[in-house]
Amino acid sequence: MKFVNTRKSLLIAAIAITCLLGMETLSAQNARIKIDIERQIGEVDKNIYGNFVEHLGRCVYGGIYDEGSELSDKDGIRLDVLEAVKGLNVSLTRYPGGNFVSNYHWLDGVGPKDERPPRMELAWARLESNRFGTNEFIEYARRMGTEPYFSVNMGTGTIEEAQNWVEYCNVAEGPYYAELRKKHGYPEPHNIKYWSLGNEMDGFWQMGHMNAEDYSKKAREAAKLMKLTSPDIKLIAAGASNYRPDSDPNEWNATILHELRDVVDYIAVHMYVGNVADNYYNYLSTPLVLEDRTQIVKGMILREMAYAQRGNKDPIYIAWDEYNIWYRARVGESMTGTRALEERYNLEDALVISGFLNAFIRNADVVKMANMAQLVNVIAPIFTSETDMFKQTIYYPLALFANNAFGTSLDVAVDCETYDTEEFFIGLAESKTKQENVPFLDVSATYNKGELVLCVVNRNKDKAITTDIISQEGLFNGEFTVYEVNGPNIKAKNDFGKTTVKTEQKSSIKAKNTDTITYTFAPHSFTMIKGKIKK
Ligand code: AHR
Repeated sequence: MKFVNTRKSLLIAAIAITCLLGMETLSAQNARIKIDIERQIGEVDKNIYGNFVEHLGRCVYGGIYDEGSELSDKDGIRLDVLEAVKGLNVSLTRYPGGNFVSNYHWLDGVGPKDERPPRMELAWARLESNRFGTNEFIEYARRMGTEPYFSVNMGTGTIEEAQNWVEYCNVAEGPYYAELRKKHGYPEPHNIKYWSLGNEMDGFWQMGHMNAEDYSKKAREAAKLMKLTSPDIKLIAAGASNYRPDSDPNEWNATILHELRDVVDYIAVHMYVGNVADNYYNYLSTPLVLEDRTQIVKGMILREMAYAQRGNKDPIYIAWDEYNIWYRARVGESMTGTRALEERYNLEDALVISGFLNAFIRNADVVKMANMAQLVNVIAPIFTSETDMFKQTIYYPLALFANNAFGTSLDVAVDCETYDTEEFFIGLAESKTKQENVPFLDVSATYNKGELVLCVVNRNKDKAITTDIISQEGLFNGEFTVYEVNGPNIKAKNDFGKTTVKTEQKSSIKAKNTDTITYTFAPHSFTMIKGKIKK
């Protein structure tokens, strides 16, 4: 009896030890990222590294443009800001709004500066001097090396006014507005390629807000006049921005895609998130919501494309026309006047931005444009005072992506631990979500002329994750450069004279014709690994 008991206990102990060992082995097993250069999603469009300048708060006045400042040149351009802007390698820049554009009349902002009329700016409650307008923006865009992208007024503006602006910018000579441009000192046309048909017309806050049918009718006629004036322009329809619980963004997108499928090139969608309930893990999952929305709009596009009469034009693509984190400076006085929307970012915000950029790359077949909103001071990566500036936390991942992640987006397989979120509001003006199986490692990869760029967010706040990075086709070879964006804790911020969160170059990984490299991703970090795969 005793013997049996001892055997039984031994057996139980053995099973328990095996289970424990098994568990340990499991949790000690490295995470895996599998890369296959032959599993391709699509070409990464450089226009996913776009940005946005709106006449709002201190984005223009006191941001990129500061007449009379010692930091500005004779044209009023803040040179310290321009240098920081150039570091973001901004592919295209949307202008002049945003909500501002829905009551903006472009003629107010051209011609001799001292003769331009000041106007009440109703979207953000300011006085608009109009000293910065079409030609100043185009000159700025050329200096920053970006493609200008204009948004026309579909609120209080007419379709004729939109047509006149295209004529002013794109027609070489002859008609009135082309000659007016020449009179203003610009003999050559500006050749603006990208034009959006209004801004957030689905939003009740928008001046001239319409229902989807009325918007489609006006946008279609504006598109007709604009294209007759300048046939090669690309048009962007104002898709859904209102994802509040009581709204129906899918209904809006479905209607306008159906009505405008023969005339537009992109559908614009907007998204702002925030850590409203101060729950890090919920918040870090918000890029997955952006990805869900991308998939839903992609499905609608595919359905409409089957019936569209588009000749040999490209399919309709998605423009994430405004995206960012915006929740702190979104109440009361922080919403109006010359200091509006001055959001200050921390490390967790930079990780969410990295997740958004990863999501754009993972959906490179359909996301062909994205614009961070906005460039300076207003929910922005660059922040100024009258005498100084600094780069916010979100500057660093954006700069890394925009200077490195190009080529073909690869369909990577990621095997790592996951977590589930609670049900939560993804932003101050957003509906709720609940995400399951959120991977601790959020990954994208691009492959360009033999070079791999791997972008990895480690969402785990406390644990480093040791990961085998495996190449299915071809071998890792040579030195892999490693950049990391991180800081002492998830709430760490930058400020004037204090850069706590930034990019650091870590020791490189040396690979000699191997199919596996191993790297340990630090807690709460964004890492970019860059090197060659030899076929
Ligand atoms: O980027 C700030 C504002 O957000 C824009 O003006 C508007 O389009 C959106 O609601």
